Amino acid sequence: MSRWPYVFFAAACFYIMIGVCWGMYMGISHDHATSPGHAHLNLLGFVSLSIMGGFYALLGKETPTWIVGANFGLMNLGVCLLAPALFLLLSQRVEPAQVVPVFMIGEVSILLGFLAFGAAVIGGLRRTGRAKAGSLKVAIA
Ligand code: HEM
Repeated sequence: MSRWPYVFFAAACFYIMIGVCWGMYMGISHDHATSPGHAHLNLLGFVSLSIMGGFYALLGKETPTWIVGANFGLMNLGVCLLAPALFLLLSQRVEPAQVVPVFMIGEVSILLGFLAFGAAVIGGLRRTGRAKAGSLKVAIA
């Protein structure tokens, strides 16, 4: 098996460690202002990367490496930009105008990361279709 699924899960574990500490910090301080940032770190960083890692381990083993790499790199760039930007914005440490460019790059990066994942899923679907058609031809012959 390729190492990619492990790489996805390793990143997911890294993000959930930060996400859980963030949640504990909110609980201890009774300051929940940054909860959307915590939620996005956990959902994009842990849940989404785990689902993608699971896909590449089980169904997407034949996905071209450049698609898997693009999927991983873009998602990570997005999470690493969005989570700190959300923290700084929601805790009112910066003005919205200061983080707009960070949000723009982070959001587009996440969008393209999901696009790469979609390409991997569609590619797998097409390969399955071709394999089925091939085995039908063999059976007819
Ligand atoms: C020990 C682990 C965690 C702690 C201590 C924690 C703590 C918190 C706290 C204090 C809030 C704010 C609640 C409020 O303002 O009403 C919150 C919100 C939230 N958390 Fe966590 N959390 C943890 C793990 C997770 C995980 C693993 C996920 C998802 C995978 C998650 C997703 C969310 C979501 C979606 C919200 C709602 C955000 C919103 O309404 O803006 N949390 N959490």
